Amino acid sequence: MSGMTRFGMSMEEDLLDKFERYMKRKGYTNRSEAIRDLIRDALVKDEWDGGEADSIGTVTIVYDHHSRELSSKLTHSQHQNIGQVVAAMHVHVDAHHCLEALILRGKGRDIKTLGDHIVGTKGVVHGQMTFTTLEAIV
Ligand code: NI
Repeated sequence: MSGMTRFGMSMEEDLLDKFERYMKRKGYTNRSEAIRDLIRDALVKDEWDGGEADSIGTVTIVYDHHSRELSSKLTHSQHQNIGQVVAAMHVHVDAHHCLEALILRGKGRDIKTLGDHIVGTKGVVHGQMTFTTLEAIV
């Protein structure tokens, strides 16, 4: 195990309050340990690389539809990749927020790139992807 490095970090108070409640629920007593676990989890997920394998999965995003041009950007990404977006469901969550669940299918590398692009679109407040390779499960 390599040595520890300290670094500072800034965060909105609201987000920190929520994070502290999350830590309590999960039994963390130490903020650094909770953040390390989240980073490890993100790195493990990022290692998934379906490569050339035929893959399928979901991308779920929550966004504020009042965000400037965001809805049309998200719709544009989906139309540009029409062969990979096999289904989409849109739910109006409240007066401001929408949830979209997309099913993507294609080469693992391609759909991961598309999913990352969609989740990373400025204004998306939360996004999550779950993929599996069809070769591994059938
Ligand atoms: Ni909506």
